[in-house]
Amino acid sequence: MIYFKYKKNNLFCEDIQVSEICKKLKTPFYLYSSNALIANYRLLQKLLGGINLLIAYSVKANSNLSVLKTFAECGSGADVVSIGELKKVLKAGISSDKIVYSGVGKTRDEIYFAVKNKIEQFNVESVEELKTIAKITEQTKTSANIALRVNPDISAGGHPKISTGKKTDKFGIPISEAKNIYYIAKKFKNLNIKGIDIHIGSQIRSLTPFKKAFKKVLDFCIELDKLGFNIKNIDLGGGIGIDYESEKQDLKFLNDYAKLIKSIFKKTNKKIIIEPGRFLVANAGILVTSVLYKKTIENKSFLIIDAGMNDLMRPALYDAKHIIRPLAKKTKNKTTKKFEVVGTVCETADIMVKNAKIYKSVEQGDYYFIDKAGAYGHVMSSSYNSKSIASEIMVNNNNYHVIKKKIDPEDLLKFEKIAPWLKKN
Ligand SMILES: Cc1ncc(COP(=O)(O)O)c(C=O)c1O
Repeated sequence: MIYFKYKKNNLFCEDIQVSEICKKLKTPFYLYSSNALIANYRLLQKLLGGINLLIAYSVKANSNLSVLKTFAECGSGADVVSIGELKKVLKAGISSDKIVYSGVGKTRDEIYFAVKNKIEQFNVESVEELKTIAKITEQTKTSANIALRVNPDISAGGHPKISTGKKTDKFGIPISEAKNIYYIAKKFKNLNIKGIDIHIGSQIRSLTPFKKAFKKVLDFCIELDKLGFNIKNIDLGGGIGIDYESEKQDLKFLNDYAKLIKSIFKKTNKKIIIEPGRFLVANAGILVTSVLYKKTIENKSFLIIDAGMNDLMRPALYDAKHIIRPLAKKTKNKTTKKFEVVGTVCETADIMVKNAKIYKSVEQGDYYFIDKAGAYGHVMSSSYNSKSIASEIMVNNNNYHVIKKKIDPEDLLKFEKIAPWLKKN
């Protein structure tokens, strides 16, 4: 089932014609299909059926409360990286025993809050962090479950900025040092050694690094068990890549990924945790925008749209490619030409789509959408250039709802105070 599709040349999200929403709400806005979120979750769950599995949705990909609640209702767990994300998933109703906490720099306040809420496991990334968790549990006379995030020294990820598993990346504990740190952990009576964790990168489109990393972690786990550590959880992290340059979902890659996990871990009765982010939300969201201007400089045609790098950072940050398409397909004047589609931010890097095929007859006010923008989209948006932060809308069959209001410059101004020594206006 495809949840964004054209009917009679007009884009629909589920049963809602997207241009109808544009009559009520100003662009740019993010639009999510709730049924696409559910379908993605169910598909992954089905493909990994038969193993002791926890899907811990990686909240950083899209932390909107309604998105979290949708996954909570599917039975999902969560992978969080801050107290803010932890508070949100608790509010969405995800139970503590399904929450894992990742991140290299957990603060004392964050650790204290997570300990109090008895989460499933801390994915610990350094000896100092381990000792801090131990100290907090001693002071509060509580305990905490820990896993070590080991760095398997495997290069992966669609872009150097989203590779996390090489030994020179800041993440995790080198696998060669991990055994000693498990021994250190054992000495703290308030720490329960629960598991082991890896996460080698994001937007991974080849099975090879996954295979190498999964085998490495399983071998290490067997070794730890022989040493008496009794590891219960193997957390494989996230990273499933998607095809941004096609309108379709890459089901083959997903199938192969699931088969790989099943074949490598079939003999273990340990709980397998995965932390998918992008796969669950990317194709469930679009960024709806409208055309402001067009201009040609030195034979190069620019299309200036009202969504920019402040709304969707991925192209500027990771050279990410997205497809842009019209909300209404034309029946006449259908010839296209290449445009560089850019946002309004005063940065040369604010290029949303290079070499986009756009109708030659495109006009001011025409609506377009950037596809597969549900992951690492709104969560990274900012008010740079003192711009509004776009709203988020969710569709469910023939209903839609504003699930996060637009934040306007007037709203942002409320947080600012003019220093008292400056002249009053
Ligand atoms: C620790 C951790 N887990 C899971 C994810 C989610 O990755 P993805 O969205 O590629 O599935 C990330 C993102 O990089 C991460 O840092």
